[in-house]
Amino acid sequence: MKILSELDLGNIRAAGVQTGNPLIKASRGRSVLTLVKHSNTTCIRDHHSLGDPRMMENFRLAPEELCFPIIQSISSDRCQHSSAFAIILTTMIRTIEWTDEGVVRIDQRRLPTHELYPVFKTHDEVAIAIEDMVVRGAPAIGVAAAMGIALGMKNSQAASPEEFDRDFHRVCERLLVTRPTAVNLFWAIERMRWAFKHSRREGASIDEIRKQLVVEALDIHREDVESNRRMGIFGAELIPDNATVLTHCNAGSLATAGFGTALGVVYAAVEAGKRVRVYADETRPFLQGARLTAWELAKENIPVTLITDSMAGHFLKSGDVDCVIVGADRVAGNGDVANKIGTYMVAVAAHENNIPFYVAAPLSTIDLTLGSGEQIPIESRADEEVTHFRGQQVAPEGVMVANPAFDVTPHRYVSAIITDAGVAREPYDTSLKALFEKKE
Ligand code: MRU
Repeated sequence: MKILSELDLGNIRAAGVQTGNPLIKASRGRSVLTLVKHSNTTCIRDHHSLGDPRMMENFRLAPEELCFPIIQSISSDRCQHSSAFAIILTTMIRTIEWTDEGVVRIDQRRLPTHELYPVFKTHDEVAIAIEDMVVRGAPAIGVAAAMGIALGMKNSQAASPEEFDRDFHRVCERLLVTRPTAVNLFWAIERMRWAFKHSRREGASIDEIRKQLVVEALDIHREDVESNRRMGIFGAELIPDNATVLTHCNAGSLATAGFGTALGVVYAAVEAGKRVRVYADETRPFLQGARLTAWELAKENIPVTLITDSMAGHFLKSGDVDCVIVGADRVAGNGDVANKIGTYMVAVAAHENNIPFYVAAPLSTIDLTLGSGEQIPIESRADEEVTHFRGQQVAPEGVMVANPAFDVTPHRYVSAIITDAGVAREPYDTSLKALFEKKE
């Protein structure tokens, strides 16, 4: 749940929102939600469930949790003066959370049929969750790894600073080997290492370091959502009204701490009042497009048409697609983009048909240490992902299988890279560097 914009009562009325004490309905874009305040009680209702005691189920949140960030953002002054107020909100899938019990994460393997939120109680469980794709998507992997480290050190039984150092090293090493392509994993672990070293240098106690690691992991989580929001604003400019966008894999809320990269651009365009529909490639073999992108967009009421990967060329040639937007797992300094296997074919077909091919990736996905995409390590995954479908064998026993999880799209096919610091275009070796410098 995220505040899109906070409006005072006057603005809400000016925006054409109906009011009726003590409820005010706020309606804009894809969300219609009502925040109601009567003296000490505050609750939020969506328009489908006004008055329904089960209304919170849609959000899987306790009312206090949901309202906490909202109440914080309203000046107490205004609260005192209005018996009711409304805020325009958008629903945002809660993908990963730090809790006292452990790291809570939506299980992406079970979607779309089951929406489950298992709790991971050790860093090793978090590492296995990354390997098994419970958590997937470059930014989400980075956030999960950071929380995994904080969790591992919370659980550490070390009695001396030296033992604590050794535990920290062991925990980082475990998370480092989970998946090789998404650079956000290494970026997030590096940030946690920096936070650890910094606290150590400052002479912090073991307990203080533990707390500092939690703070750092939560910062990484929060910054990811913020950077997706910024990317959305930059990217939405590139989307025409009434646009049809084709996307590959899942680069939405589920692949990040929230809001998404490629789908974040779609959400931001819709929030800006544009009409957008999406073709989602199913994304063999793990079906991130069919299972996750289609689920997420449908949940956000954005028209989505699911197609198989082999149909993408047909639709790109048909004149029905205005642009392609994908996310990335790692972008090299020259603008070459590693993303889900199949992205390269889409980029070539888009180029052939003069359709802009955009990549949305935060600076944490850009690896300036690599001069070209040839240097990006490509993960190879288990044969069963190709030979089986949900446990059902679909290929002959013993057939040879190749299962690279990513491919590299050369920068010449990339029309622009939408980052959280602005939009980069060719020549990427200078434009990407300039965005990093601008951020510093
Ligand atoms: O193997 P996955 O599902 O982790 O691969 C994910 C992708 O390729 C995404 O497109 C990429 O991480 C961008 S996520 C915002």
